[in-house]
Amino acid sequence: MRRKDLDYLVIGFLFLSGLYVFVTGLLADLMGLNRFAYHSLAGYIFVTLAACHVILNWKRISAYAANLLRFRSKERGEKVSKKGITRRDALFAAIGAVGGFSLSRFIFPLQEGQVEVKGDLGRLYHQWSSFGMTLFSGGRVNWGTRPSQYKTYPDARRVGLPDPAWKEGPPIGAVIERRRSVRRYADRLLSKLELSRLLHAMQGITEEGRAFRAAPSAGALYPIEIYAVVRDVEGIESGVYHYAVREHEMEQIKKGDFRDQVTAAGAMQAFVGESQVTFILTAIFQRTRWKYRKRTYRYVLLEAGHIAQNLYLAATALGLGCCAVGAFRDQALDELVGVGEDEGEGSLYLLPVGKLS
Ligand SMILES: Cc1cc2nc3c(=O)[nH]c(=O)nc-3n(C[C@H](O)[C@H](O)[C@H](O)COP(=O)(O)O)c2cc1C
Repeated sequence: MRRKDLDYLVIGFLFLSGLYVFVTGLLADLMGLNRFAYHSLAGYIFVTLAACHVILNWKRISAYAANLLRFRSKERGEKVSKKGITRRDALFAAIGAVGGFSLSRFIFPLQEGQVEVKGDLGRLYHQWSSFGMTLFSGGRVNWGTRPSQYKTYPDARRVGLPDPAWKEGPPIGAVIERRRSVRRYADRLLSKLELSRLLHAMQGITEEGRAFRAAPSAGALYPIEIYAVVRDVEGIESGVYHYAVREHEMEQIKKGDFRDQVTAAGAMQAFVGESQVTFILTAIFQRTRWKYRKRTYRYVLLEAGHIAQNLYLAATALGLGCCAVGAFRDQALDELVGVGEDEGEGSLYLLPVGKLS
C-alpha cells in the first residue's frame, strides 16, 4: 500500500473514531455514566490515529510550521494542500456513517418486546430496560420534570434528634458476621440516640458540600423517603413520622398507636407491630425517572436494598434486632403513611427494629 493510500485510510478511521468519541461522550452524559469505558477507549483510538496521521504527514506539517514560524514565502517552502475534502475523504465518511447506521439498525436491532412473559412481567421489564446496542432507549434527560430532592411537611410538628455520631462501635467484620433477621423484641424503650443513628445510617447526610448520603444513589438523586411508625421510643410521642433528611429531624404526620394498622399492612406478621419502631421506605420515582427513564425501577429497588442493609448493620452494631419485610399490602402501607399513585410515591419496604429480648 502506498503511503498516500495509508494516509487516506487513517483519515477515514480518524473521522469514524471522532464520531465514536462524540457518540460515547453523549451517551455517557445522557445515561449519567461516570468513566464510561467505551468513551475512554474511543479517546485512545482517536489519539492513536491522530498520531499516525501526524507521522504520515510529518513533512508537510513541519514545512507548514516552518513557513509560519520563519515567515518564509510560500514559494520557497513546501506547498500546503488546499484541496479540502476530496472525493475519497467523502467516500470514507459515507462508508463509516452507513456502516454505523446499519450496525445499530439491522445487525444489533433493539430487543424490545421480544421476550415471552411466561407469567413473570419482571422478565419483560428486565429486558425492556436493558442497555442494548441501541443505548438511547435507556434514557433521555428531561430537566423540566425534575422534582425537589427533599420532601417536607411544612405544617408538621418537628422532633429534633441527637447527634448520630458513633464515638465507638464493634468492628464492621464482627457486625457482618453477627447480622441476622430478628423477629422477637423485648418490651423496652428504644433511645432517641438509637433512633437517630438508625435514621442517619439509612439516609443521613455524610458529606455536607454535595449533600451526599450514607447510602449510594444513582446520580445522587435520592428517590427514597423514610417514614417511621414509632411505638416505644424514649421522649417521642407514638405516631407516624417522616424523616427530614436535610435537618436530621422527624416530622409528625399522625399521632397515636398504629401497631394494628402496621401489622395488618405487613400481611399480619405479628412482629411487624411488636417492634419499637417500624420503618417504611417509599420512593418518589420521578426523582430518578427524569434522568434514567426505563432504568428507574431497577435503580430505585437497588437503592432500597442499600438503605435496608445499612439499617441492618447499624441495628446489629447497636445491639438491636431488625427484619426486612417484603410481604406487605402496598395500598394499606401507602395509606398508613399518606402516599399514593397520585403523588407518584409508593411503598417499597417495611423494616421493623426492636430491642433484643
Ligand atoms: C426482600 C426481602 C424480603 C423479606 N421479606 C420477609 C418477610 O416478609 N417476612 C419475614 O419474616 N422475613 C422476610 N425477609 C427476611 C428473610 O426471611 C431473611 O433474610 C432470611 O431468612 C435469611 O435470614 P438472615 O436475614 O437472618 O440472614 C425478607 C428478606 C428480604 C431480603
